[in-house]
Amino acid sequence: MSRSLLAGDPGLASMDPAITKLEDASTTIYHGDCLDVMRELIADGQVDLIFADPPYNLGKQFGESEDKWPSDEAYVAWCYSWLKLCLSKLKPTGSLYVMTSTQAMPFLDLWLRNECTILSRIVWHYDSSGVQARKLYGSMYEPILFCVKDRKAYTYNADDIEVQAPTGAVRRLIDYRKPTPEPYKTTKVPGNVWYYPRVRYRMPEYEQHPSQKPEALIERVIKASSNVGDLILDPFAGTFTTSAVARRLGRRSLGIERERGYFKIGARRLGLAQTLDGEDLRPLDKTYIKRNGRGASGGAES
Ligand SMILES: C[S@@+](CC[C@H](N)C(=O)[O-])C[C@H]1O[C@@H](n2cnc3c(N)ncnc32)[C@H](O)[C@@H]1O
Repeated sequence: MSRSLLAGDPGLASMDPAITKLEDASTTIYHGDCLDVMRELIADGQVDLIFADPPYNLGKQFGESEDKWPSDEAYVAWCYSWLKLCLSKLKPTGSLYVMTSTQAMPFLDLWLRNECTILSRIVWHYDSSGVQARKLYGSMYEPILFCVKDRKAYTYNADDIEVQAPTGAVRRLIDYRKPTPEPYKTTKVPGNVWYYPRVRYRMPEYEQHPSQKPEALIERVIKASSNVGDLILDPFAGTFTTSAVARRLGRRSLGIERERGYFKIGARRLGLAQTLDGEDLRPLDKTYIKRNGRGASGGAES
């Protein structure tokens, strides 16, 4: 990774002792608070794409920390502080995707409208396993905002994310409205409701984390809003899904995670270390208990 991506040239020795990093030619991962890392180590105006998937203030346990703020006001004030930093790290042509809970998103939406342009309000819709709500409509989606700094100059690779557009017809339909009739196009750019299954224990990509995002979802974001060689930042890396997909798609990436356990998952998932803190970094040992001879699972679902 080129040192010019960093503010100054801190080097490991002079870095804030609360921050550690691992890197290779395309990928840098930081263990630290994203506010500190963005302020101290990432230069302004360098990043092409940010995928920000913060804690949602819903009381989940992330490693040693509980995802709970004293009030909604305190939570959104914290969000505004990292969003401001994120926007300063983006190039003038950069894009920002932001996730949070359905409850908190309206506050972020209103705030972001004054700072940049929100181009799409995306719904990530998924299936639901386990007990269903009985007295209200259970939650089956999470919102994502797609924002750009300059609505006249941003990356959007529509051809790279096209999906099948089922017409319902068995035969190929001909569009007779064209000057020369031709078959209807059978692919289209996806709309703003995206269906992707949540990451489950049985899936090869599963890591031990309470809100890991599917690689397929992040793949669509990266393909649409960046090019090969571009720099992508994920300030709340969790299991470093963004870094893993960025690497597979030939992009450079910076990922930041506050919990040491998840940083170790990232180090292993990205092949940046085999041991850390004297510990061998091994993939999760998934065991399946056969109960009936047909392969029924004793493993937990996410
Ligand atoms: C919703 S999860 C992200 C999951 C990630 N997208 C993935 O696919 O694995 C949010 C993550 O942010 C981390 N986090 C919370 N506060 C943070 C902070 N101030 N700086 C860096 N990471 C933080 C949590 O430990 C958690 O792993």
